[in-house]
Amino acid sequence: MGVFRTRLLLWLLPGMVTGGLVRRTTDEQEEMPCSTYTLDGLIYLDCNERGLSELPEGLNYESQVLILTNNNFATFPSQLESFTRVQVLDLSGNHLNVPLPSYIENWTSLNTLNLSNNNYESWLNDGRQYKFRRLDLSRNKIKNIEEDSFSGMTNLYFLDLSENRINEFSPKLLTAAKSLNTLRLSRNYLSELPKFQSNSLRSLHLSYCLITNLQVDSLSEMTSLLEIDLSSNQIESIPDNFSSNTLQELDLSYNEIGSLTDRTFSSLPHLAVLNLRGNEFREVWSTSHFASNPFLREVHVKGNRWNCEGFSVNLLLTYEFLTKEPSKIHDRASLICYAPSNVTQLSWQQAYIQTWHPNASTVESYTTLAAMVGIIIGIVVTSLICRGIIAINKPDPPRPETETTIVNLNGTPQSRAESVVMRVPLRDEDLPPTYDEALLMPRLNSSFHSLPDFVDDEPSQRSRRSRSIGDLTEHRPRVNDRRSVRRTVEIHIT
Ligand SMILES: *[C@@H]1O[C@H](CO)[C@@H](O)[C@H](O)[C@H]1NC(C)=O
Ligand SMILES: *[C@@H]1O[C@H](CO)[C@@H](O)[C@H](O)[C@H]1NC(C)=O
Ligand SMILES: *[C@@H]1O[C@H](CO)[C@@H](O)[C@H](O)[C@H]1NC(C)=O
Ligand SMILES: *[C@@H]1O[C@H](CO)[C@@H](O)[C@H](O)[C@H]1NC(C)=O
Ligand SMILES: *[C@@H]1O[C@H](CO)[C@@H](O)[C@H](O)[C@H]1NC(C)=O
Repeated sequence: MGVFRTRLLLWLLPGMVTGGLVRRTTDEQEEMPCSTYTLDGLIYLDCNERGLSELPEGLNYESQVLILTNNNFATFPSQLESFTRVQVLDLSGNHLNVPLPSYIENWTSLNTLNLSNNNYESWLNDGRQYKFRRLDLSRNKIKNIEEDSFSGMTNLYFLDLSENRINEFSPKLLTAAKSLNTLRLSRNYLSELPKFQSNSLRSLHLSYCLITNLQVDSLSEMTSLLEIDLSSNQIESIPDNFSSNTLQELDLSYNEIGSLTDRTFSSLPHLAVLNLRGNEFREVWSTSHFASNPFLREVHVKGNRWNCEGFSVNLLLTYEFLTKEPSKIHDRASLICYAPSNVTQLSWQQAYIQTWHPNASTVESYTTLAAMVGIIIGIVVTSLICRGIIAINKPDPPRPETETTIVNLNGTPQSRAESVVMRVPLRDEDLPPTYDEALLMPRLNSSFHSLPDFVDDEPSQRSRRSRSIGDLTEHRPRVNDRRSVRRTVEIHIT
């Protein structure tokens, strides 16, 4: 019993100690609500998640990074004005819905203003000039944005308006934001790709925006655009001649696109990365769809239900186009057939090969096979030529021409249609006649031309030239195959 009690005590002790420590830390926080530290040469003031709606007294006004996140600020705290050296002001996760205070205009070192996850419902132009480069307005409730909302932000480089309720943008919204490089608009309620006018914008993010429509000239006024993310929208087709002279990366993954044409990407001359994952493609693309995209280096195709029906050579060509080193596809396994059922899970290449060349498993082995067949044919042809030359140099003794004997029972020519061909087994006396015997055999009374099994040479020239080069190229019936194990006897019956 005593041992048990000691164990219980040992078991409870650490818990009690920890509880005490936790309580002591909480006490410290109540005294000193924000912590301050230096990192990378910057003074941080961290007031994250302190339940604050006003800032306490006695803070370090020299702070350069102000973390006021996840509190209850509904207005900008009055003491904020004293922090004139701020580079980063993070007020994300509060309840702000008021215009920026005027003193921020004078904060020349402010680089980043984070107002993500607040209560803004609109963003209006206040006529002031701001110096900051990064503005995060994501996860608010913004519906309205004025055409010139960002015209006082000539240094603005990065703007995040994702997860708001915006359903329309003025094309002129970005015209005055002459430094804007990256614009994030994901998760808004757009139906069209906005036709912004901007000479600086390079990266535009529009995923999850319910976009159904792309216009041919949607991108034409964004003259520096390099990258656009249109993933997870409801786009069913890309208009022919969809054009941008600068675009390099086009993300159209998780849309409803079902087909491409030779004109789809023909006006995107700098296209390098193309993401078409998770669309409705069935028909395997043709390499001609990418004829105008010499810089294409990366293509994503996974999650489409490729139909290999037809088994055309296109399967093989497009497969090679995409996988030829340096491969445009990182995941070759994504080039698989979904239909027809007999090739489900086979790659495009395998489907083509299995249909047309069932015993070659890959293009490589098929090519090897073809090369080997070529070599064998070469060897055979060479040996035939050599043997032909030898045969010319050493003529054979004269030989009888044929094993076919025509027995004409009544001595008159008969049409072949009435002839009966009998196969007679080879016997000793059936051996071919010697040349002398042949000379003594009955003369034929029909012309040689009616006897297709005879050569039309003069008897005196019947050396075995049938294997000379000329004979290989010209078609001529073979007659004197002495290895034949049977003879044909034609009996012409009256
Ligand atoms: C900003 O600075 C200018 C002069 O530097 C001053 O006149 C103006 O009052 C300041 N604005 C605010 C809101 O402090
Ligand atoms: C703003 O704050 C949110 C949430 O704290 C964070 O996810 C985001 O990266 C911040 N934005 C910038 C531009 O730093
Ligand atoms: C696309 O451009 C080509 C050549 O410039 C033109 O012939 C064709 O009509 C255009 N197609 C569309 C749909 O605009
Ligand atoms: C699969 O079936 C199609 C007809 O649907 C046929 O043409 C093709 O040869 C078959 N392929 C293989 C690999 O059996
Ligand atoms: C392919 O292989 C099978 C047995 O594996 C064989 O029966 C068939 O004749 C082969 N076909 C060809 C074209 O070589």
